[in-house]
Amino acid sequence: MVKNHIQAAAEIIKESKYLIALTGAGISKESNVPTFRGEDGLWRNYNAMELATPAAFANNPSLVWEWYSWRQGLIAECEPNPAHNILVKWEEKGILKTLITQNVDGLHRRAGSQNVLEVHGNLWALKCVSCNYVGMSNAPALGIPPCPQCASHLRPDVVWFGESLDAGIIDQVYIELNKADACLVVGTSALVQPSASFPLIVKKRGGQLVEVNVEETSLTDVVDVHLLGMAGNVLPSLDSLLD
Ligand code: APR
Ligand code: ZN
Repeated sequence: MVKNHIQAAAEIIKESKYLIALTGAGISKESNVPTFRGEDGLWRNYNAMELATPAAFANNPSLVWEWYSWRQGLIAECEPNPAHNILVKWEEKGILKTLITQNVDGLHRRAGSQNVLEVHGNLWALKCVSCNYVGMSNAPALGIPPCPQCASHLRPDVVWFGESLDAGIIDQVYIELNKADACLVVGTSALVQPSASFPLIVKKRGGQLVEVNVEETSLTDVVDVHLLGMAGNVLPSLDSLLD
């Protein structure tokens, strides 16, 4: 692994035939979206890990909705940052084939990314706890939204701790991982599975990895190039080396 060799990283991206990206909360940090494990990951002294669970919703759905509504309100004010925008540019130029994100903030789509796999769902998506209703909201929830089909509770259509990821999306992810010859990993602590292992699958197949993070992570020893820095700065610098 080489550190901070941005030229080497640019070469990997330029030479790639099928570049994919895996992003985490860090790519949205400069859009002022709180990360999960950073100092801003807490809400009213609750830990996100205590609220984003089926049990938390079962025994206090209004508290969980209060937290999601707070996050929806906060994220509605956030704008994509240059890091999101560079990934849109690379998709439009055919450099980036697919974007796999753990983020539920919807900022990649808001920035204009089309080929996005939201492995943990989307903060604005809703699903019924009883029937098969799914839908999208465009405003922060007021209380517990009732299902328009059966009047049960609607919940955020996101993946909670202890829940499995959507099988259809995961199938698509593995197809991409098996096509990729390079993976750009941006702003993830690489602590949550199975996402943390996605880059390793590309590596094992002989692909190359570039990591962008303000710290080292459990992936850092495995990647080909680690770029220490904020995504909003590093991605535009990388982009300027591609032209
Ligand atoms: N640029 C790049 N990386 C950054 C920046 C930045 N400006 N700011 C923070 N980071 C890095 C942090 O160093 C950390 O490694 O982003 C990462 C954020 O880590 P987490 O908060 O753990 O977020 P993430 O990796 O996306 O969490 C994965 O865990 O809580 C669950 O479902 C939730 O999707 C989330 C998953
Ligand atoms: Zn219903």
